Amino acid sequence: MDFQGHHLLVALTFSLLFLFFHYPLPTNASTNKLVDSVCKKTINNGDCINALESDPRTATTSELKDLAKIALQMAVANSTKSKAYIDDLLNKNHTESIKKCSFWYGAVVGSFRSGLEELDVDALTANYDAKVAADGANNCENAMASAGVQVPSISTRNKYVRLYSSIGFENTCLSINLPSTQQ
Ligand SMILES: *[C@@H]1O[C@H](CO)[C@@H](O)[C@H](O)[C@H]1NC(C)=O
Ligand SMILES: *[C@@H]1O[C@H](CO)[C@@H](O)[C@H](O)[C@H]1NC(C)=O
Repeated sequence: MDFQGHHLLVALTFSLLFLFFHYPLPTNASTNKLVDSVCKKTINNGDCINALESDPRTATTSELKDLAKIALQMAVANSTKSKAYIDDLLNKNHTESIKKCSFWYGAVVGSFRSGLEELDVDALTANYDAKVAADGANNCENAMASAGVQVPSISTRNKYVRLYSSIGFENTCLSINLPSTQQ
């Protein structure tokens, strides 16, 4: 390789390294270190980052508790819409397993709501509430599976519940220095 070619290669290498470190892929890292510290412990790092960053407040949040509040508010909003969606489905098609899902989504919303309220009162309870919210989604999924019923739009929403449950749980574990038990 001639002298100029060598210089070009060095310049190119440095440009690529610069780009790599300054523009990390959005699904692999957040610009907020706090988000990274939480999301890497959750069941899906990329989905966690995307979810948290969809709220404009996340970028400037520097306290774990504030991030937990954002996550649980999102969880309440998301699961409330899912419950309404499932109830609507149930009105159109009265299937026993969809009825069970509607019931379990009441529990999911209740757990996320309680977790949000307990954040400033009893962090350990908030941590527990966030964790058990996923049980409702799992019970819904199992009710459909054992009836041999497949409703992909509900299964997708169960996945969101598990994601938000994992985010809320890991976030509150970090806030109160509890070891994570998931994973
Ligand atoms: C629920 O959360 C998921 C995951 O973040 C998101 O993709 C979806 O758009 C949300 N749904 C609603 C209705 O907010
Ligand atoms: C009601 O939903 C179940 C489960 O998805 C499905 O098997 C059934 O065909 C649906 N019935 C009607 C009338 O759409």
